[in-house]
Amino acid sequence: MQTLSKPDESRLWADIEALSAITLPDRPWTRRPFTPLYAQGRAWLKREMKSLGLEVSQDAASNLIGRLPGANPSLPPLMIGSHTDTVTGGGRFDGIAGVIVGLEIVRMISESGIVLDHPLEIVDFTAEEPTDFGVSTVGSRGMVGNLSDTMLGSKDPEGRILSECIAGAGGSPERINDSSRRSGSVAVYLELHIEQGPVLIQAGLPLAVVTGIVGIGRYQITVTGQPDHAGTTPMTMRRDALTAAGELFVKLESICRESYSAPVVGTVGVVNVSPNAANVVPGEVTFRLEVRSVDPALIDTVCERYLSEARRMIESRGLAIRIEELTRSEPVNVSDLILDTLQSNCERTVGKGTEVPRIPSGAGHDGNQLSRIAPIGMIFVPSLGGRSHCPEEWTDIGPIALGAEALARALLELDKKL
Ligand code: GLV
Ligand code: MN
Ligand code: MN
Repeated sequence: MQTLSKPDESRLWADIEALSAITLPDRPWTRRPFTPLYAQGRAWLKREMKSLGLEVSQDAASNLIGRLPGANPSLPPLMIGSHTDTVTGGGRFDGIAGVIVGLEIVRMISESGIVLDHPLEIVDFTAEEPTDFGVSTVGSRGMVGNLSDTMLGSKDPEGRILSECIAGAGGSPERINDSSRRSGSVAVYLELHIEQGPVLIQAGLPLAVVTGIVGIGRYQITVTGQPDHAGTTPMTMRRDALTAAGELFVKLESICRESYSAPVVGTVGVVNVSPNAANVVPGEVTFRLEVRSVDPALIDTVCERYLSEARRMIESRGLAIRIEELTRSEPVNVSDLILDTLQSNCERTVGKGTEVPRIPSGAGHDGNQLSRIAPIGMIFVPSLGGRSHCPEEWTDIGPIALGAEALARALLELDKKL
């Protein structure tokens, strides 16, 4: 068997610089989905994929796919992927590191003269991060048939419809459900991602194997009071939607700070106040919250308790509350076969004496959706200061290259095993 060539750090770094530089100039590093910048980033990626000789296509959900044929075309593809959209303001590595490592692995395989048995697909999943439509992992949901008509019909604050945005990004929303991939049609899904937390950097270690991915429950709550003059309405006669919603923000924090059998985190990350004026008592507040845990029963327990408390608190103030479930993703556990394959190849790559810990992912990923149809596995590389989803997000190229090498080795092993 041919020897696999090493990843090239300077090539990897040049790609990360080129793609991350496609950002809103006054708000680095921002490339929101369904924007001209996003299309520009994808045009860059498409050119790179073509220059590597990959067959480039977009599926019905608008995922961008570069395919390297295998020796046995009847086998389902091995898949490596991540995303090129970002949250507003960062980061520079979240998502693109995994896509660019996919390109580098294709180069390593081609340079080594290796022909895989399975086809290999490198995928840039559309809109992994939470969108203004209230849906995240849009492309991977679409790929596995988990993007409902309600989700496709949802509107963003500008009145755009998700299905139209998917069509604008090169997809065919009317075909998503019929053309979605079925269980067994992908041999394995692998992803390298930055850790986005402090474990690796604090331990001074370059790689971790991900044991599973948290599930997420997301809701939108609208609290309706009454807009009134902020100077003339006595404090006892107000129906202030913002002070009422403020109590709900704090309530989520206090419920999630209690101790449970597994970690639970809860966040209010979007707030819209109407009319949002200094001299008007807020009449309506809409906010989005999420609860995450590796234990699905805990997500249910915490959400049910929080939502019933929220209802009681708002009604006791004489205000109205509307609760809508936006999305729900189930936690995922990585199988022993994939864990062991990733672990042994990470250990071979980092060398004897360097520990490769196993850690769960508190962040959501496309693997969460792919697990519905295929075994999945992930490798983490360290995030400086544990920071992510912010402009300071940083990962050194050394660990990214090590991760690329470990993932490529694991891929070759799985090509023979699966
Ligand atoms: C994705 O980055 C998420 O965890 O929300
Ligand atoms: Mn992210
Ligand atoms: Mn990500």
